[in-house]
Amino acid sequence: MSRYSVEDLVAEAARLAGLGVRALLVFGIPEEKDDEGTGAWDADGIVQRTLRAVRAEQPGLVLITDVCLCEYTSHGHCGVIRDGEVANDETLELLARTALSHVEAGADAVAPSDMMDGRVGVIRETLPETPIIAYAAKYASAFYGPFREVAESLPSFGDRRGYQMDSANVREALRECELDLAEGADVVMVKPAMPYLDVIRAVRERFDCPVAAYNVSGEYAMVKSAAAAGHLDERQAALESLAAIKRAGADVVVSYWTESLATWL
Ligand code: PBG
Ligand code: ZN
Repeated sequence: MSRYSVEDLVAEAARLAGLGVRALLVFGIPEEKDDEGTGAWDADGIVQRTLRAVRAEQPGLVLITDVCLCEYTSHGHCGVIRDGEVANDETLELLARTALSHVEAGADAVAPSDMMDGRVGVIRETLPETPIIAYAAKYASAFYGPFREVAESLPSFGDRRGYQMDSANVREALRECELDLAEGADVVMVKPAMPYLDVIRAVRERFDCPVAAYNVSGEYAMVKSAAAAGHLDERQAALESLAAIKRAGADVVVSYWTESLATWL
């Protein structure tokens, strides 16, 4: 897990494209965080500058952006806070603004990960033509640990259970997918992946749209640590994990192993 400067990411994108990687999911960490997460929709923000720079050199690479406020808010929550709680409806407009700024900077598709109710609808209204990959079934999970460390986005109070899903519930995942599709999502995503293979399968069987799965930071870190300790072979464990996610029904897999995978295959 690491972070890049704009220049470093341009070089990294060239390297990855050279290996045959076709798509990147871009996240940003702003220089300064604030209450509203204003860095998220800044036309000169880190993601927007990166998109323009990478786009100029890699016209064929698919650039997808994570749309959320938690990397940009000082409190680390995915929406704005009013009276100690995340204000769902007030956050929607900020997410739409963020998605629009990404597309204006060159994003091919946007991936809202905030889990506010109604965000796919407002983004669809703002961007009628842009593919939306909705983090539809995103569970409140312990497996986001390494990501939050790198993004410095651990909530400063409370947790994300108010807007992320209960890990014990599968039917709610189907309801979330249904809502996101009705609001205009093109792809629905299940996240994390390995502990939720049954959810991927259920979503695959219920809907005909492309299904994505996000093999998250903690899933990756577990295998990396186990391999470093000599408990297992990283390549075999990674290939087995990714194949299991495909087998469960994912058409698209977001993974930190993509670079290794491009080399291995
Ligand atoms: C932001 C976001 C998170 C991840 C992707 N987008 C963190 C979170 O919800 O806390 C997790 C990615 C990972 O763990 O690899 N909403
Ligand atoms: Zn978030």
